[in-house]
Formats: sequence, C-alpha cells, structure tokens
Amino acid sequence: MNRVSVRVPAKINLHLGVGPLRADGYHSLATLYQAVSLHDQVTVERADPGSGISLHIEGSFVEQVPADRSNLAVRAIEEVAARCGVAPDVQLTIGKAIPVAAGLAGGSADAAAALVAADLIFGAELDRDDLLAIAARLGSDVPFALTGGTAIGLGRGELLTPALTRGTFHWVLVSSGGAGLSTPAVFAELDRLRAAAGGADSGEPEVPAAVMQALLAHDPLTLGRALGNDLQEAALALRPQLRTRIDIAVDYGALGAIISGSGPTVALLVRDEEHALDLTVALASHGIADPMFRVTGPVPGARVVEAD
Ligand code: C5P
Repeated sequence: MNRVSVRVPAKINLHLGVGPLRADGYHSLATLYQAVSLHDQVTVERADPGSGISLHIEGSFVEQVPADRSNLAVRAIEEVAARCGVAPDVQLTIGKAIPVAAGLAGGSADAAAALVAADLIFGAELDRDDLLAIAARLGSDVPFALTGGTAIGLGRGELLTPALTRGTFHWVLVSSGGAGLSTPAVFAELDRLRAAAGGADSGEPEVPAAVMQALLAHDPLTLGRALGNDLQEAALALRPQLRTRIDIAVDYGALGAIISGSGPTVALLVRDEEHALDLTVALASHGIADPMFRVTGPVPGARVVEAD
C-alpha cells in the first residue's frame, strides 16, 4: 500500500472521575468517553528511502499543532516502523478540524489514525490488542480514539469497556479558539485545590449508575443532569471566563453544560439540531466569538477512508 487516509473523531467525557495521584505521575480515572462527529483526517504516504518522516499540517488551528517529534502522530509512525524493522520514510499529512489542547483529544486522535495508517503502509498486520497496547503507550486517550463509540475508561483512561447506549445525542462544542489548556497543568491544579481543601483521600472514582442508565434509555434530560467532571473546577480556576459560557448555555435551555476533559472546550447537551443552532446563535449574540461545533455522538473510531 502506498497511500492511506484515516478519519478519526474527537471525544468528549460525559463523566470524568479523578482519583488520587499514582506513583507513576498519573491519576486513576473512571471516565465515560463519547466519540463525536468532529473529525481530523490523517494521510500517510510512502516517501523516498532515507527521507524520514515529513509532516504537513492542513486545515484549521495549523499554527498550534506541534510540527516536530513531539507530535504524537509522528511517534505512532515511528513505533510501527520499529516493530517492522523498517525505516519510517513517509509523508504524514494531518488535516485538522479538531481544536488543539482543547479537551477533545485531537492529538490523541491523530496518533490513533496514524497507527492505523502506518499498520497498512508498513504491512505490519498488527492485531487489535497490539494496536491498543501501542496506543496506550502513546497516551491515555489514544486507545479510545481507535475504538470510538461510547466507552468506560479505567486505569489512566486507557482500559476500555464499551458502554451500552441507544440513539444519538446532540451536542454543541464551544472551543476557546487558539487558547488551549495544558492537561498536566489542569491535573496539577486539581491536586493543588484538593490539598488546599484538606487533602482528604478522593477514593477510587466510579462512573455513576445514573449516567449509564440515561445512555441506555436514551434520556437526554437525565443525562444532562448526570454529566460530571472532576477536572471542571481546576479548569475554571485556570480560566474563570469559561463560567460565563456555561451560565449562558444553561439560561438558554442546555440540558447539560460541562467542561470537556481538561478543557477549555465547553460541551453542551441539547435536545436536537434546532436547539443546537439556537444555542450557538444565543452564545454568539452574547459576544462568544470562538469556533462552535454542532455535533452528534456516538460515532465510530478511526476508520480507513482511502487506501491505494
Ligand atoms: O496520557 P497523556 O500523555 O495524554 O497524559 C498527559 C498528562 O496528563 C500526564 O503526563 C499527566 O500529567 C496527566 N494525566 C494524569 N492522569 C491521567 C491522564 C493524564 O495525571 N489519568
């Protein structure tokens, strides 16, 4: 195979329970991921021997995407090439639509897509478990970008169990334009807030039964009330102005309003497409000028869309 393109979705966290800091520097999590219809497209193409990996970024948010080895998609290709004992001589093109450092796992999505594409380009024939294991080494959210749908994530988020859901949910994602938040900084702020509050053991986190039941019953009203994110206060402490957009959305009838992951994207659960449009208009009329996305979930994970 000479050229493979893979489409990969953003994720939101319907619930994000954060436990104590572990010895390895990660926090134990109990999260419920949902993949939503905002996609990047990653293309890997064979290049001349000895040329190495050349990286091209296209689409939105181009300046904010790391264009060197710190890009997880580059590391994904190096991993697969090393497994096959071949040189990673490819052109890697990332078509960005998912905001960067936004709590939507856009970088993790690109890494998952690059894994799938590199597997085909190098003829690695990795099985699902191999792919998931490499994905988990690259980052906590990378395995979920491979599987998509709706899934519980335990461990540091990488141990996945599919969740039973019915129907489609409608969301508005309000990004913060170019102003991302660093995931380690938000986790560190949570540790600081918890220590300042007396440092009581937060215990092992769980996904509440109410969230799972609302998904299974396709009950957006109950789901909206059951959404939760232990990182929310930390993200709001670092970026207090996000609170205004949550308040406006609630005033305009959002069924749920939550920071996605470590933020700063705000995820708003709405009744339907029309409600999504009304809400974006209301937010814009209150001076929110950042890009907003009307999306649905769940959608599948990384999928090959072109291969030749
Ligand atoms: O796994 P990933 O590389 O995406 O994580 C980025 C950072 O986020 C980690 O270095 C850590 O600071 C924080 N993190 C955490 N606990 C998790 C996941 C991420 O503390 N479960």
